[in-house]
Amino acid sequence: MAEERALAMVTCTAPVNIAVIKYWGKRDNDLILPINSSLSVTLHQDQLKTTTTAAASRDFTEDRLWLNGEEADVGHPRLQACLREVRRLARKRRGGSAEDASPLSLSYKIHIATKNNFPTAAGLASSAAGYACLVAALARLYGVEGELSEVARRGSGSACRSMLGGFVQWQRGERPDGRDSLAHQVAPETHWPELRVLVLVVSGEKKPVGSTSGMQTSVDTSPLLKHRAEAVVPERLALMMRHIRERDFEGFGQLTMKDSNQFHATCLDTFPPIFYLNDISRRIIALAHRFNAHHGRTKVAYTFDAGPNAVIFTLADTVAEFVEVVRRSFPPATNGDQFVRGLPVDSSSLPEELLTAVVTEPVPGAVQYILHTKPGPGPQLLDDPSQHLLGADGLPRRCA
Ligand code: DP6
Repeated sequence: MAEERALAMVTCTAPVNIAVIKYWGKRDNDLILPINSSLSVTLHQDQLKTTTTAAASRDFTEDRLWLNGEEADVGHPRLQACLREVRRLARKRRGGSAEDASPLSLSYKIHIATKNNFPTAAGLASSAAGYACLVAALARLYGVEGELSEVARRGSGSACRSMLGGFVQWQRGERPDGRDSLAHQVAPETHWPELRVLVLVVSGEKKPVGSTSGMQTSVDTSPLLKHRAEAVVPERLALMMRHIRERDFEGFGQLTMKDSNQFHATCLDTFPPIFYLNDISRRIIALAHRFNAHHGRTKVAYTFDAGPNAVIFTLADTVAEFVEVVRRSFPPATNGDQFVRGLPVDSSSLPEELLTAVVTEPVPGAVQYILHTKPGPGPQLLDDPSQHLLGADGLPRRCA
């Protein structure tokens, strides 16, 4: 048996995902088992990612956690569930093989530091990337491989979909113990090279009702949600998978918009009602429909999660024109040069008839900025030790 290591440190990154068939409602709150399956697109980490360093050492005296540089409560039940599950898998694996090149004592305390390169809790699925990253890093630290979406799911339901790249389905599963409630890749990120994503950041504020409590109230009170889970989603999932397989943007886009709208309808059907969309969100919805109507086909599709920011799907050849339409509709108040971030966007001059038909009543400053991105891969391991968020002493580095 090799000697136990004194300190081990691992850094991973993980992506945000955006659902096109939404998850909303649990049948088991503790295990985080959903009432319906869902389907999402994993976004590229060049633009949106969480980075997490996990370290274990015999010198650490307590478990500790830092979120974006601030020390946070490590006792959160969901974080503890993820930690317990990874350690359980590690114990199982070690039980199976006598030889382990570098055993890391499972009794060592751990330090975790994590940071996002985007605003937390702004409706950009930060908990999904956060828990996916935590589980990816812990699994590497303890040498656990294989099915990890089940562990990430215990952190946040949508996090299980961030464990894979491209187009990902989270199957609701049937078993009461949740062993079959897992994420599967429907197609890799290379499957649809022209697909682009524009995140229209409307507000950096925290959402008024978190998804966990919001969906619980919906399960308790909304008959529409019950109907959606039982009758609507199964059919939509099959259809959505076909649109993705065939790279049918019109089919994909229309269904994405309808499913977002139905999710927000279940929020309105919740009692008391929940409002995630604001006036600007609704203006963006109307703008997308005017744009599509002008072109006579679905060229852009919106979707909204538990917040007012819009996520727009489109194809590469439409990006420049639509970005210009957004700029004209919501003229940037300040930092005009930083209005478009992420992947480069060509400049575009809009034909007069498009302007007249699509850009009505501009609202200056309503969209803070646009982030241009595309589908991307699942969690990544960072090999370069200079990218660790913790120093050799196990404390956050000043630059991190
Ligand atoms: C609207 O995964 O944040 O983004 O499982 O309680 O942590 P918990 O909820 P969470 O809910 C995400 C809801 C959604 C839709 C989706 O991502 O499918």
